[in-house]
Amino acid sequence: MENIFRIAIDGPSGAGKSTIAKAVAKALNIDYIDTGAMYRAVGFKMNRDGVPFDADDPALEAMLANTDIDFVRGDIILDGEVVNDVIRTPEVSMLASQCSSLAPVREKLVEIQRGMGMRKSVIMDGRDIGTNVLKDAEFKIFLTASAEERASRRFKELQEKGETQTYEEVLEDIKQRDYNDMTRELNPLCKADDAIEVDTTGHGIEEVVDTVLDIIRNEE
Ligand code: DC
Repeated sequence: MENIFRIAIDGPSGAGKSTIAKAVAKALNIDYIDTGAMYRAVGFKMNRDGVPFDADDPALEAMLANTDIDFVRGDIILDGEVVNDVIRTPEVSMLASQCSSLAPVREKLVEIQRGMGMRKSVIMDGRDIGTNVLKDAEFKIFLTASAEERASRRFKELQEKGETQTYEEVLEDIKQRDYNDMTRELNPLCKADDAIEVDTTGHGIEEVVDTVLDIIRNEE
């Protein structure tokens, strides 16, 4: 394999992108970059600081100019603070989806993400990695699963964390976010022409990790 290579993993919410990407990163000994966590961090900060969700508002530009996002040993750091947990609530999921349609937010995050993908081998997951952020990635995977399966996985995770959403609410959220992500004007979620689709419905984590590793090894 060449010295530096990039793997793009895109797909809808709850398809298992981050679980799979983390395991593949470990198997290949490369860095994992969770771009959804970056949109979550921005949505969280905008809400906390009362910044309007309006692309033309000068307060948004000012906030973004003063925002620093990085990953350090698997933790996401927003302005020097670890925000792993506070960005994983259903409320922040919706805020992330909303802020991700704002051009200034996407411009800022895409620039940071491209920088992260230039220096070393990475696996990056999100919605527009294969179509926009890393268009020339050596490997592109589009990970899917039925909305019902994605909702039941998310529902289980939330229950374990003590969240009180019902399955129906989680399914509604997933469908709403799919709609937002696929219909937004800027870099909507869609499969890159040269991405390989992997449907994870009914398949366990290990099986999917093996499928992805096989794709990467066979394409080398
Ligand atoms: O993957 P996630 O659920 O953590 O992503 C949170 C939101 O961020 C999701 O609704 C869509 C948005 N997002 C995006 O627009 N582009 C990306 N590359 C990653 C996430």
